[in-house]
Amino acid sequence: ATEFLVVLIASYLIGSIPIGYLIARRKAKIDITTHGSGRTGATNVLRTLGRKMAALVAFMDMLKGVAAVCLAGVVIGHEFVLIGDYHMGLLMVQVMAALAAVAGHIFPVFNRFKGGRGVATFFGGFIALYPLAAIFGGEIFIISIGLTGFASLGSIAGVTGAYAIMIPLSLMSGLPVEYLIYSLVGAVVIIIMHRDNIQRLIAGKERKISEKAR
Ligand code: G3P
Repeated sequence: ATEFLVVLIASYLIGSIPIGYLIARRKAKIDITTHGSGRTGATNVLRTLGRKMAALVAFMDMLKGVAAVCLAGVVIGHEFVLIGDYHMGLLMVQVMAALAAVAGHIFPVFNRFKGGRGVATFFGGFIALYPLAAIFGGEIFIISIGLTGFASLGSIAGVTGAYAIMIPLSLMSGLPVEYLIYSLVGAVVIIIMHRDNIQRLIAGKERKISEKAR
């Protein structure tokens, strides 16, 4: 159980590294939380600082999800962890580690709990856990943004698509239920985190991904 707690706390702390905030501070001497949507994710970095910085932030934020899954594998080191009398499988620990990193990204202890919406870190965790669903969700994300110009809509469609594809995959090929749990919890959290975007989309006031912010 100690290892389990160490993994969860360390994953949350990894997720809490405010990459977008740090890069914006270092490269442009600005506080990204006071620009555009105020979020520290790659979308807001894109509209505030351009493509190069956004790509770097997206990549590093994804790595946080990958790192949490790998860390769980290394720390636990065997097939399960004992929590009281309960044997929790390694895969479930890895799922919880990735979700802890997503939570850290959204509510970073190192940045006064002002973070992103969790999309890139969730995607990174999914790449490490089950790349097929992650790539499928990623395709939907890109196509939706291409069609509508809204990153938020792309994120919502992407995480919903990744969950949707997990349902037939789980039923037909007997995949472990942990992947389905990850896709469901991640999608619900990320959609909740987009509630202000959803209100703006309905009101016709959402920022396009190409819209520059100062
Ligand atoms: O991944 C975040 C994106 O879906 C929306 O970000 O800054 O437009 O609210 P933002």
